[in-house]
Amino acid sequence: MSIPSRSVPFLALGGIFDHADVQAAQQINLSAAEPNGNFFPLPEEPEFQKAFAAHEGAQHAIAVNSCGTALDACMMALGIKEGDEVITTPLTFVCSATCAIAQGAKVVFADIDPHTLCLDPEKVRAKITDKTKAIIPVHFAGLACDIDGFDAITRDTDIPVIYDAAHAVGTTFKGQPVGGAGKASCYSFQSNKNITTLGEGGAITTNDADFAEVVRQKKTFGYVYGGPKIRVASIGFNYRMTKPQLAVGITQIAKAPRIIREKLSRFKILHDQLSDIDGLALPAGIEDGHGAHLYIVRITQADRDEVVATLRDKYQIGTAYHYPIVWTWEAFNELEYDCNNCNIAENASSQVISLPAFAQSSDDDLQYIAYALRKTLASI
Ligand SMILES: Cc1ncc(COP(=O)(O)O)c(C=O)c1O
Repeated sequence: MSIPSRSVPFLALGGIFDHADVQAAQQINLSAAEPNGNFFPLPEEPEFQKAFAAHEGAQHAIAVNSCGTALDACMMALGIKEGDEVITTPLTFVCSATCAIAQGAKVVFADIDPHTLCLDPEKVRAKITDKTKAIIPVHFAGLACDIDGFDAITRDTDIPVIYDAAHAVGTTFKGQPVGGAGKASCYSFQSNKNITTLGEGGAITTNDADFAEVVRQKKTFGYVYGGPKIRVASIGFNYRMTKPQLAVGITQIAKAPRIIREKLSRFKILHDQLSDIDGLALPAGIEDGHGAHLYIVRITQADRDEVVATLRDKYQIGTAYHYPIVWTWEAFNELEYDCNNCNIAENASSQVISLPAFAQSSDDDLQYIAYALRKTLASI
């Protein structure tokens, strides 16, 4: 069977935008511009934070301007410093590791589970020393990590877990949203995520009221509100979201269940169509509860780069690469880090391809991707 050629680019398509989002952003711009407009504290902030915490199953949410700064704030709130070690996965975006380095700590990479591609708690245990002060697992592509395994580590060692939940808006573990897990979770609303606050944004969720308060201080120059006088309690920065972003966050979170449902339904269709192709390892957990951020396959019997080039040049299909191994970025050349025994992650990184599946993908797009991948793998 031959299918007519079409172009399927890899786009940064995350949330679904409609009139409600545009209207929310426009109204905020007008009200903020009025004399006596209430710029700060932002009245939209509690509403968005409450809705986001409820969606992610946590008691507190703190809105910030990115997941990167969310991770930075959590490292600062934990007091991570020079001489400490922080364990994370090598198969992630660079800031899951650099947030610890920025505080002067050494990053220790532990290997991943070959099935889920998430950090493996047992591999983490093998790397714990008396200097280990935090663990940062990533809910990779929208699939929850083994939260039970990390809870057990915290019970045994008291080491706090900060989840990098950049991919995990809407992800659940054993039927529960993941936002209440560990010490805290850091979410991203950057443009390709399930909800997006005008291209950038993030939030921290936690069930720990004291930790929430310290993070809140870190995002506003260490300020403490309430009491007879405002205080500056510690060194902090400006990690705040803008009013239009918060307003759009409120409209985005209202439709998050629909966005995730539609995206996951597209993933399931593609998953079915790819299921009988030789030389292809399909992602784990493509079922209800997956956050449906990325659909990532592994090329197990051919050269990944050749497959990517063929999809691009012969079939006009765009793909993405999540991720190069963190320590291979040149910024790591001069750093001290531990990357021993991470063979599973290194192997996975050489095989992964992210396919262009979005809530907006048509049935024809998905059928064409499966057709092109089947032809490509048969021909290489
Ligand atoms: C795993 C992971 N962590 C953190 C981030 C950083 O998110 P942000 O762009 O919101 O800072 C990303 C970005 O895509 C990511 O994929």
